[in-house]
Amino acid sequence: MTLSQVAAENEDQAAYWNGPSGVKWVDHQSQMDKVLDPLGQIALDVAGPDLGERIIDIGCGCGATSILLADRVGRQGKVLGVDISEPMLGLARQRAGDRTQVEFRNADASVYDFTGFEADQLFSRFGVMFFRDPVKAFANIRKGLKSGARLTFVCWRPLPLNGWMYTPLQSALSIIPAPPPTAPDEPGPFAFADDSRVTALLSNAGFSDIKFTPADRMMTLGRAGNSADDFKTAVDFAIMFGPLGRLLGEMDKTRIADVRQAIEKGLESHRTQTGVKLPAAVWIVTARNS
Ligand SMILES: C[S@@+](CC[C@H](N)C(=O)[O-])C[C@H]1O[C@@H](n2cnc3c(N)ncnc32)[C@H](O)[C@@H]1O
Repeated sequence: MTLSQVAAENEDQAAYWNGPSGVKWVDHQSQMDKVLDPLGQIALDVAGPDLGERIIDIGCGCGATSILLADRVGRQGKVLGVDISEPMLGLARQRAGDRTQVEFRNADASVYDFTGFEADQLFSRFGVMFFRDPVKAFANIRKGLKSGARLTFVCWRPLPLNGWMYTPLQSALSIIPAPPPTAPDEPGPFAFADDSRVTALLSNAGFSDIKFTPADRMMTLGRAGNSADDFKTAVDFAIMFGPLGRLLGEMDKTRIADVRQAIEKGLESHRTQTGVKLPAAVWIVTARNS
C-alpha cells in the first residue's frame, strides 16, 4: 500500500518519515517502545479504552499503541491506526498479527477521509505534533469522531525539561555549532510544548473541555544495566533520536565520533546500576469533540 494523499504543507514530514528516519524507527522499534511505553501508558490509563469502542490512533508509527488499544476494545471494537510512514506501518501490520479489529492506513491525517468511522475516542502517543497546519488536521480528524468523543494524547513539554534529549544535545553543542533557531510552532517533537497555543488550536478545531496534566518520569536510555555495553546502547539511543538525531543525521562520520565522546562525558554522571536515567516531561492532553 502506498501513501495516496499528502497536504502540500506536510510533504517535508512525509519525506522525513518515509526516508531514513522511518527506517531507523523500524530498526529500533523494540528499544523505542521500551523507552516510550511508560509515558504512553499514562495516556492509555487516562483514555481508559473500553470493550467494543472505536478508536482512531493518530501517528501510530510501528503500531505499539494501536495494538494495545485493539486488545482493550476486543473483536467487537475497532482501531484505526493512521500514519504517514509506510515503513513504520509495514512493521505495525506485522505486529498486529491476526487482530482483525485493527486496521492501518498510510495517510496524512490532515487530509485522510475519516467520514463515517464514528470513533468514540481519538488517541495518540507523540504522533500529533508534526502537522504544519494543526487546526486543519484536527478539524479533519474530527469528521471521524462521534459527537462528544474523547481525545487523549501525550506530547513533550519544553526541551529543557526533557533531560534525556536536552543533556546530550547540550554536550553536542559544546563542540558543534547550534542549528539556526526554529519557530516555536514549527512541526516537530516540541511543537505542542506550549499548552496555551495547543488549547487555542484544539478549540479552533472544534474541541472543548481541553485539559493539560503534566507528568514527569525518569527515563532509562537504552538498557537497564550498568555494563560498558549498556552504556554504549544509551549513547547510541541519545545520538539517534530526538533533536540530536535530526542534527547529526547529515554530519560527517569523523565529527560524529567527537560528538559521541562529548555525549559520553555528559551522560556519565547519569549512569546508575539500572541504566542511564534522565528526566522526561510530558503533557497528557484531554478534550471532547464538541
Ligand atoms: C514520534 S513518532 C511516534 C510514533 C508512535 N506513535 C510511537 O509512539 O511509537 C511520530 C509519528 O507521527 C507520524 N506522522 C507525522 N506526520 C503525520 C501526518 N501528517 N499524518 C499521520 N501521521 C503522521 C510519523 O510518521 C511517526 O510515525
